[in-house]
Amino acid sequence: MRNLAIKGSDRARNMLPVARANLQRAGLADAIELQAQDVLQARPFADSGFIVTNPPYGVRMDEQDALAELYPQLGDWLKAHFAGWTAHFFTGDLRLSDLIHLSVKRRTPLFNGSLPCRLFAIPMVAGSARREKPAADDEANGVADAE
Ligand SMILES: C[S@@+](CC[C@H](N)C(=O)[O-])C[C@H]1O[C@@H](n2cnc3c(N)ncnc32)[C@H](O)[C@@H]1O
Repeated sequence: MRNLAIKGSDRARNMLPVARANLQRAGLADAIELQAQDVLQARPFADSGFIVTNPPYGVRMDEQDALAELYPQLGDWLKAHFAGWTAHFFTGDLRLSDLIHLSVKRRTPLFNGSLPCRLFAIPMVAGSARREKPAADDEANGVADAE
């Protein structure tokens, strides 16, 4: 377990003890290195790998506006730094798949309590991940795979 390179981060320093407690309960306390960091400052530590994250998703209008700024930034960050990696975003904000401006390979319907969510899988292939036009929206049908 110690040989796996797994890193976790949140920009809110007070989330780290919460994450450590969860890792402890899962028996993974020694396996994952945690740090306080803005996600946009994170850089790859291998040629390929997986990013798994549940970015913020809000209900209030001001939160929605902030997220409409953050999601395209996440797309730009992935495209600039993470070719060869696959990103997975778990979110209740179904706008993410359009706002991130990248090709979503798979959309798995999941729930957070009663809130409908998606796990979006986005493979980052150098030079070909940017989506020019929005794909046909299959969200209404809860379709699990965009391919
Ligand atoms: C939906 S919560 C998920 C928290 C935790 N990962 C979990 O599963 O319980 C979203 C988290 O994103 C963090 N966050 C928001 N903007 C961020 C950014 N730009 N960089 C890093 N973390 C950020 C917030 O501090 C918050 O803890």
